[in-house]
Amino acid sequence: MQKAVEAAPDAFIPGGMPDPLAGEAHELIGAPVSRVDGARKVRGEAPFAAEFALDAMTYAALVHSTIPKGRIATLDTAAAEAAPGVVLVMTHRNAPPMKPVPMFLSKPKAAGGDNLPVFQDDTVHWNGQPVALVLAETQEQADHARSLVRVAYHEEPAVTSLAEAMARGTEDAVFQGEPLNVEIGDAEAALAAAPHRVDAVYRTPRLNHNAIELHAATVAWHGNELRIHDATQAVAHTAWSLAQVFGLRESQVHVTSPFVGGGFGGKALWQHQVLAAAAAKLAGRPVRIVLSREGVYRTVGGRTLTEQRVALGADNEGRFTALIHTGTAVMTAHNNMPEPFIMPARSLYSAGSFRLDVQAAKMDMLANTFMRAPGESVGSFALESAIDELAGQLDIDPIGLRRRNEPDRDPTKGTPFSSRHLLDAYRMGAERFGWKERHDRPRMRREGEWLVGMGCATATYPYYRMPGGAARITLTRDGAVRVEVAAHEMGMGTATVQAQLVAARLGVPLENVTVAYGDSAFPGVVLAGGSQQTASIGRAVVVALRALFTDLLRLGGAGTLLDGLHFDEVRGHRRGQETGLCKAGDPARFETYAALLARAGRAEMRVEGQAPPPLELQHWSMHSTGAIFCEARVNAVTGEPRVTRLLGSFDCGRILNAKTAASQFRGGMIMGLGMALMEETQFDERNGRVMNPSLSDYHVPAHLDVPHIDVMWTDIPDPHAPAGARGIGEIGITGTAAAVANAIHNACGIRVRELPITLDKLL
Ligand code: MOS
Repeated sequence: MQKAVEAAPDAFIPGGMPDPLAGEAHELIGAPVSRVDGARKVRGEAPFAAEFALDAMTYAALVHSTIPKGRIATLDTAAAEAAPGVVLVMTHRNAPPMKPVPMFLSKPKAAGGDNLPVFQDDTVHWNGQPVALVLAETQEQADHARSLVRVAYHEEPAVTSLAEAMARGTEDAVFQGEPLNVEIGDAEAALAAAPHRVDAVYRTPRLNHNAIELHAATVAWHGNELRIHDATQAVAHTAWSLAQVFGLRESQVHVTSPFVGGGFGGKALWQHQVLAAAAAKLAGRPVRIVLSREGVYRTVGGRTLTEQRVALGADNEGRFTALIHTGTAVMTAHNNMPEPFIMPARSLYSAGSFRLDVQAAKMDMLANTFMRAPGESVGSFALESAIDELAGQLDIDPIGLRRRNEPDRDPTKGTPFSSRHLLDAYRMGAERFGWKERHDRPRMRREGEWLVGMGCATATYPYYRMPGGAARITLTRDGAVRVEVAAHEMGMGTATVQAQLVAARLGVPLENVTVAYGDSAFPGVVLAGGSQQTASIGRAVVVALRALFTDLLRLGGAGTLLDGLHFDEVRGHRRGQETGLCKAGDPARFETYAALLARAGRAEMRVEGQAPPPLELQHWSMHSTGAIFCEARVNAVTGEPRVTRLLGSFDCGRILNAKTAASQFRGGMIMGLGMALMEETQFDERNGRVMNPSLSDYHVPAHLDVPHIDVMWTDIPDPHAPAGARGIGEIGITGTAAAVANAIHNACGIRVRELPITLDKLL
């Protein structure tokens, strides 16, 4: 098998070769193909992590601490151990030695939400930390026995209030190795001198992941080999990280995750998988662990709270002279997600001066983590609300104000945009939404008891392509293609879109392509996060296919119509029922794959491609953007807010599948709607305990809360992204909360700067 590692010149840096799929039309690209995994899910044939039946299975339940900080004084497990069906109770006293989980981003394949020791000592770091695990013959027996464990603590003073955390002082937040700080010019002086300004504080609460599939793992040891069926966004990361924890070689840990019922950043490596593996080792039997919904809130981190100042100074024409976005995000001493809310302000607007800064305050709590568009989601709420406030003050249309401050290159980095058509997205969206019906002033439209308003806001999320993309491709004589990559399908359509891309590049029918994923034994370190999986896999596939074409030509091309051609001179091509390669631009010079393989003396050909480093990110400022439009109603009697229309108009490069893309956009916008109106993790500041760890108390939008959501896109290929496509997974949540807040202000005249916008804030 040829393993291809592409050397420079790269196709996606200046001077490199173009990617034909970035620009040329193809019937499969953009087509609304239904998800290839859909039928299995509908039929109940898709196995999720908690659905693998193993012989002699045991079932786990966790006991959680009830104090935020201190030591375990006594731990009485006798009653639990004597309860029916109990196999064992594991605590720090009998757990096997384990190293801390390497924390995500600290190493290329680290997967941990934090790096605290797991069951190695008696210390308690947060309220809800697992302190015992019960293993029993049935889940019910484990759940019962768990209620019999008695724990007493030596409590220590803990920082569980924002005021105390702030009073202790903050430190410069660092994200992905970079300080979250930008200073260009003297923004405070420019603000003070500006004829028009807004200067306000915006607050966003803690939020929790609520994937419908609970976090779960089914774990078994075969000698020194660890086998884990996990619900994860990171199979390769999880395998490597568990190997570090248990002192194994990476090849001794095999993680699979063929189906994932939602992730959003929360399905990484947390204590439950580690504890299940440790308990399985101790018991000598397989273990299934499924966190309860409460267990997810206590064990798996969510989004942290922020307090943000946005100050905008503008001249008489509305041009920004100062853009200040600063504030504080709360973290713990053992995680690395400072909720980088200044990200939108770094690239959305030109301004005469900038001051952007995130400070981190530390609290004793469960490690906060990545949650859909970390930073941009809450940062765009503050920034895009402030823009709306300034537009009102200047009496300029909010879209017009944005147009006046549209940058022609990245305003803080100075690099050119790879492709940016945000104003087109606004124009298209405004037209479809009927923006011209909006009244400039609030409280101008009333229908019965309801005050009705419209608002808009900009959505933005960076293009990422993380290092480590790789793919293995096998082509057989019948034209069947198998792609293997350690990637993930959480319902986004990843497998479908990759099948479309590979079919298009090879010229074979879609049904000939199988995309296999969710297995740490496959190539690649591909995270289903950062809205970058499509780019990561797509880039690796390009390299792999070059290797495939090279081999086909070298081993089977001599003496054919393709004799002497180089891999970049041929294209995958379909002629009737036949599929093969032709000379680019000359379909008459065509040889079938079957013929090329036969001449090469091969039944099949297998290649592996390794994506080059993401150099495009050094040359270009690459961002998906969009315009969110909202129509909201506020009940003049009760204050109840309702969103009655939402529209998202996106500029994310080429859209690869109209159906799955629309679902991604809509799903993100629904999450943004929840953030705007209802979601809030209630945290008891006296003791650091989450008070609403259930879907009956933590409100997410239900069907009746969600209006018709219209989505559209510019569909302009980005010449510097694989297949012309930037990410679409996270952008929908960005901008949406601000669009809702702005529409509510337009409806009733009340500016709410603290999420969620509940009716008590509108009376
Ligand atoms: Mo997302 S927060 O990158 O899963």
